[in-house]
Amino acid sequence: FRTLDELDPRGLRILLRADLNLPVKDGRITDRTRIERLVPTIKELSEKGGRVVVCSHFDRPKGKVVSEMSLRPMVEALASALGRPVGFAEDCMGLVAESAVAALADGDVLLLENTRFHPGEEANDPAMAAALARLADAYVNDAFSAAHRAHASTEGVAHLVPSYAGRLMQAELEALDAALGNPARPVVAIVGGAKVSTKLDLLGNLSRKVDVLVIGGAMANTFLAAQGHAMGKSLQEAEMHDTALRMLAEAAEAHCEVVLPVDLVVASEFAAHASSRTVGIDSVPEGMMALDVGSETVAMVEQRLRGASTVVWNGPFGAFEIQPFDAATVAVAATVAGLTTSAGLKSIGGGGDTVAALKHAGVVERMTYVSSAGGAFLEWLEGKTLPGVAALTRD
Ligand code: 3PG
Repeated sequence: FRTLDELDPRGLRILLRADLNLPVKDGRITDRTRIERLVPTIKELSEKGGRVVVCSHFDRPKGKVVSEMSLRPMVEALASALGRPVGFAEDCMGLVAESAVAALADGDVLLLENTRFHPGEEANDPAMAAALARLADAYVNDAFSAAHRAHASTEGVAHLVPSYAGRLMQAELEALDAALGNPARPVVAIVGGAKVSTKLDLLGNLSRKVDVLVIGGAMANTFLAAQGHAMGKSLQEAEMHDTALRMLAEAAEAHCEVVLPVDLVVASEFAAHASSRTVGIDSVPEGMMALDVGSETVAMVEQRLRGASTVVWNGPFGAFEIQPFDAATVAVAATVAGLTTSAGLKSIGGGGDTVAALKHAGVVERMTYVSSAGGAFLEWLEGKTLPGVAALTRD
């Protein structure tokens, strides 16, 4: 794919696909990470004299205008992050957008209204892609986190105007390449989360690509139960036992070492400060549930990490939202961060609530890269082609 190194934006209208789908609660943005990571691309294009036309989806309005899902409130957030004024157009295409774009001077920044207000966005309607293309001399995609969607603004338009990866897209792709594409070995993957059934493709792909696969979270319960350990009232998926055993056999065939918990932190209920204790995997009491992995398991994982060159992490070890069941996640995160700074371990994390878990552990700044993407990061780890990325790399 082409990067901004190959684009001289001076005097050009640049359609910049961003992901401004920020978490908002009671009308307030609760996490500005995606805006902060977008700033370098906008600044670079604007400072080099480009006329920057930012478009994005926000939430899921399903092809209709839903006023609570307007991008207008993002204007101020964007302007304050950029330290310069940002204009707004009430529609992302048609006359309103075209005249707002025509009025731009070199270096100006304009935000367009939510692309998902039009049904053509999610349908990847060629007419909508063409309407967006009319606004632009070049297209820059900086929305890695929306690249798993084949939509008009993420995929269709990329075929109609010269296309480039923005700096955030570039950073995400380079980090993922360092994690799985062309990694320094040995590679350890840590996968946690509740269900095996939602991470089948992920586990399958990783077991073919990494040297050590650490399985934590409630999904580990399913593996342990499949191996015949009594799991008390722990969350698990009984119907996935055969699949779990098959997966372990496939991993062994691919010479991937699978690390499952050897001890578990159990409690009688999932509640803050519920009385808990650590037991071996063969001693889970009948009326209790596993909510985290124990310290022996943490030590095993840390030993694998000390021998590793790369670690890719998706999903927490335990129910980290509630103490003390965050202990294993926090301990392993601290080890990963420490090895990253002291021993050159390449550490990449992302997807779903992983970022929240790593933030909770206070290690985001000390890891090599933490992705801003949820679903897109997961699909990439599953080995899937992301349409938004493919459209940039076609020619
Ligand atoms: C995200 O927040 O993961 C992306 O913006 C994609 O949003 P979507 O799941 O609504 O397509």
